[in-house]
Amino acid sequence: METKKKSSFTGSLGFVLAAAGSAVGVGNIWRFPYLAAKDGGGLFIIIYVALVFTFGFTLLVTDVAIGRRTKTNALHAFAAMNRKWKFLGCLTFLVPIIIMTYYSVIGGWITKYLAVYLAGHGTDAAQEGYFTSFITSEVSPIVFMLLFLAVTAFIVYSGVEKGIERFAKVVMPGLLIMIVIIAIYSLTLQFKDGNGNIRTGLQGLSVYLIPNLDGMTVKRFLEILLDAMSQLFFSLSVSMGIMITYGSYVKKEVNLSQSLAQIEFFDTFVAFLAGLMIIPAVYVFFGAEGMASGPSLMFVSLPKVFEAMGWIGNVIGIVFFVMVLFAALTSCISIMETLVANFMDIFHGSRKKTSLIIGVASAVAAAIICMGYNVFYFELSLPNGQTAQLLDLMDYVSNSFLMPFISLLTCIFVGWIIKPKWICEEMESSGHPFRRKKLYIFMIRYVVPIMMAVLFLQSAGIFTMVQSLFV
Ligand code: PFF
Repeated sequence: METKKKSSFTGSLGFVLAAAGSAVGVGNIWRFPYLAAKDGGGLFIIIYVALVFTFGFTLLVTDVAIGRRTKTNALHAFAAMNRKWKFLGCLTFLVPIIIMTYYSVIGGWITKYLAVYLAGHGTDAAQEGYFTSFITSEVSPIVFMLLFLAVTAFIVYSGVEKGIERFAKVVMPGLLIMIVIIAIYSLTLQFKDGNGNIRTGLQGLSVYLIPNLDGMTVKRFLEILLDAMSQLFFSLSVSMGIMITYGSYVKKEVNLSQSLAQIEFFDTFVAFLAGLMIIPAVYVFFGAEGMASGPSLMFVSLPKVFEAMGWIGNVIGIVFFVMVLFAALTSCISIMETLVANFMDIFHGSRKKTSLIIGVASAVAAAIICMGYNVFYFELSLPNGQTAQLLDLMDYVSNSFLMPFISLLTCIFVGWIIKPKWICEEMESSGHPFRRKKLYIFMIRYVVPIMMAVLFLQSAGIFTMVQSLFV
């Protein structure tokens, strides 16, 4: 007979590390730098950082406090607070389902690059067109995705996440050190292009940090804002039920205000450093035009940096991709664990059976996403100005479309029906002060809902439609 035991984190460090393990992943190392490059560097960063400490803070506090106070997962938490709002719990559950379909595809890309560096073929990966020819090939991306997914599913299946988290404690600081070393090296790079122009890493740094307001319009500003906001949801793993579940494991005596500030800071810091590692290098090797290359950015630019390092580049490549793989794995485990836990809850199946079914279903879905670069190839213009294939479309639907909508409803529910006091009481229940309490109340009642409504309309393309009626 299976005995049901509710696990809880040993203390605030356990919580911060587990939440950081979920938060720090490909979102920080792959997604943040390509968005920052596409959206004009400095301006994106300023907007992003401002959003993290206002919007990100508000959403993170809301999720974790709901979890700790109701002591249950998102599916039940909203129902426990108010019967009529049960649907919101179900809606949040849609997000990890969608993210799961493509997260393992990116995990597969990372696995492939690790394999290439292990085989000592790092210079091949630095060749023009290598990444595109890999993702457009029919078999290889699926094989590597399956490898990555099999490891994730095995860990969830055998319930050994705790062991992995212990390992992640070593890997996370290691990853940070690697990123710093590569970032410093990136800044020393120099390259002479076909026209004899020399581009340096330091020039790349200024592109990364100094806001470029050339040709800025309201529409463009809204696009950047939407990108930054979608990155915030994705990166902090908020508004998708995950942080509610984590909150339900946190003990009453933990100082939430402080722990959440640490998570916000750490997640943002890793993303910022990842940009520092990738963007100056992209500028050096590919110039300003290379900045808009989107999801391929990390996979195209880093091999170039490793190649420029000489023989040691191959070793650095191995260490780097091992660590990114771990960061991706801990995040993917947290997504799959949520799916398994929720489906076990709904259908009362055993952990093993549920993990198997979810594993197979995720593999099928991810294989279809892989085929988005060959069999199901299309080019779709999204309202954020990006040209999307299947993977980008799923990413857009979950992070830019569903999440603003879920956050809007959550803010209306918490800000106006449950009332912020309910959250504040939980934040103060450990006897520690709730720092930024006034900011929280103002944000959850007024600023976040209005902004989410605007972004939702923008992401649904409604502004663009209305604008076109007048032009
Ligand atoms: N926050 C993770 C990252 O930045 O890679 C991704 C993620 C984890 C998204 C967990 C969603 C999730 F439920």
